[in-house]
Amino acid sequence: MATVILRKAQANDLEQITAIEHSVQPVPWSRNGLFSEFSTNSVIFWVLSPTSSLSKVIGYICFRMIVDEVYLSNIAIADKYQRLGYGSFLLKNALNFWKNRGIERVTLDVCKQNHQAISFYARNGFFFVCPPDKLKGKFCLMAMKLFQE
Ligand SMILES: CC(C)(COP(=O)(O)OP(=O)(O)OC[C@H]1O[C@@H](n2cnc3c(N)ncnc32)[C@H](O)[C@@H]1OP(=O)(O)O)[C@@H](O)C(=O)NCCC(=O)NCCS
Repeated sequence: MATVILRKAQANDLEQITAIEHSVQPVPWSRNGLFSEFSTNSVIFWVLSPTSSLSKVIGYICFRMIVDEVYLSNIAIADKYQRLGYGSFLLKNALNFWKNRGIERVTLDVCKQNHQAISFYARNGFFFVCPPDKLKGKFCLMAMKLFQE
């Protein structure tokens, strides 16, 4: 894994974010959807860049604050950087950020067919709130407790 940093997404990252979104997400958000996400006050939108090329985006993550919980609304790593630990690095740093702010629980929805993402989340400590086969829709809810009881 190359040395990387997490930084706040900026308007001039939007082209690269949209390109990654459309190349790796099973159901990609539109450019406008991504733009509105990172223009929203309650959203934290970070990108991952190599320290050797700070304007390059190799992945991103966004979260929404919902009352006293945090909802992970999107995460992606560019295809050629996948399975090298960048996704886990991004997620762990983001979860630490929320833990340091006293947030107790993080939730997310993931498409039941997205086995790659489900495996990734489970590997990083998320659990199913309800078993997927008990749910009717396309998505299932996963959660993580940042403080153990
Ligand atoms: C999910 C995602 C962010 C993971 O990023 P990553 O950098 O590849 O993840 P890491 O390298 O940190 O972790 C790898 C683990 O994720 C899971 N994983 C990643 N790619 C996988 C694949 N193609 N098939 C199965 N599991 C996969 C595995 O558990 C893997 O561990 P392993 O290599 O020991 O089997 C990335 O695969 C991605 O961008 N997917 C497309 C976007 C997406 O589906 N986002 C989630 C929307 S809810």
